[in-house]
Amino acid sequence: MGNVPLCDLTGKVALVTGASRGIGRAVAFALARHGADVLVNSRKRDGAEAVASGIRGLGRRAVALPADVRDPAAVATLAEAAGAFAPHLDILVLNAGISPVYARVEAHRPEEWQAILDTNLTGAFLCARALAPSLTVRPGGRVLVMASIAGLVGLPRLAAYNATKGGLLQLTRTLALEWAQHGVRVNALAPGFIETDMTAPLRDHPALRRTILQRVPMGRFGQPEEVAAAALFLVSDAAAYITGTVLTVDGGWTAA
Ligand SMILES: NC(=O)c1ccc[n+]([C@@H]2O[C@H](COP(=O)([O-])OP(=O)(O)OC[C@H]3O[C@@H](n4cnc5c(N)ncnc54)[C@H](OP(=O)(O)O)[C@@H]3O)[C@@H](O)[C@H]2O)c1
Repeated sequence: MGNVPLCDLTGKVALVTGASRGIGRAVAFALARHGADVLVNSRKRDGAEAVASGIRGLGRRAVALPADVRDPAAVATLAEAAGAFAPHLDILVLNAGISPVYARVEAHRPEEWQAILDTNLTGAFLCARALAPSLTVRPGGRVLVMASIAGLVGLPRLAAYNATKGGLLQLTRTLALEWAQHGVRVNALAPGFIETDMTAPLRDHPALRRTILQRVPMGRFGQPEEVAAAALFLVSDAAAYITGTVLTVDGGWTAA
């Protein structure tokens, strides 16, 4: 590794799903600041294009690739567009996710359950599957799966979300085993409660906010940039011998 900084991503090409805002946006910018060119995905073109434009402002190559990760045809088009941008992919961040339901299991409607599974779990599978050829074509690929502490511990009123995040951890381990022979590392992050649009309804509710913060040993919500710093570590050469693992970024939640 010589004198090259361990987190230098110069010359790498990264694709981040769900990168128009929140954690994905912070990860996309962190990768770009450390030298990567970035493919920016989200469903809505405007949000993805705004992030891509910001990254181009840093002097990196970046394009918006709008696609709904639930849709196999859209994901196939996304993979084709990624192939047109660069012949191979170095970094894939499977981040797109939703959490629209906060209710007890018996109040989860089946269509809500399905939408959460389709986005968080099946979406990650579809993207990993479609991008596998360009990731595994040469050694050095890195995949980062955005799981959650909800995949490690139970969080009441989030049954569908918890199930997808537990599933993502198993997808992470399976991909790590299958792709190690191609020199591709696959790891997951398990953030706790981070200040993004996703958690705004919980943070804006005084009683829920209090309940959550009482459970966080560090006594505060996390910032997207704090998750991005951990993401940068896992996709960089600083984590060269790490695969199939999950790193919590939770202010101590799961230590209790
Ligand atoms: N915030 C937290 O406390 C927290 C904690 C643990 C884990 N996470 C995980 O971190 C990831 C990002 O969460 P966040 O808090 O940053 O959420 P967010 O602010 O709501 O952003 C979600 C991103 O995903 C995109 N997205 C949603 N559905 C999509 C789809 N079907 N296809 C493509 N893109 C889609 C959104 O853009 P469009 O709406 O334009 O598609 C947006 O860019 C999620 O997987 C979440 O589960 C979050």
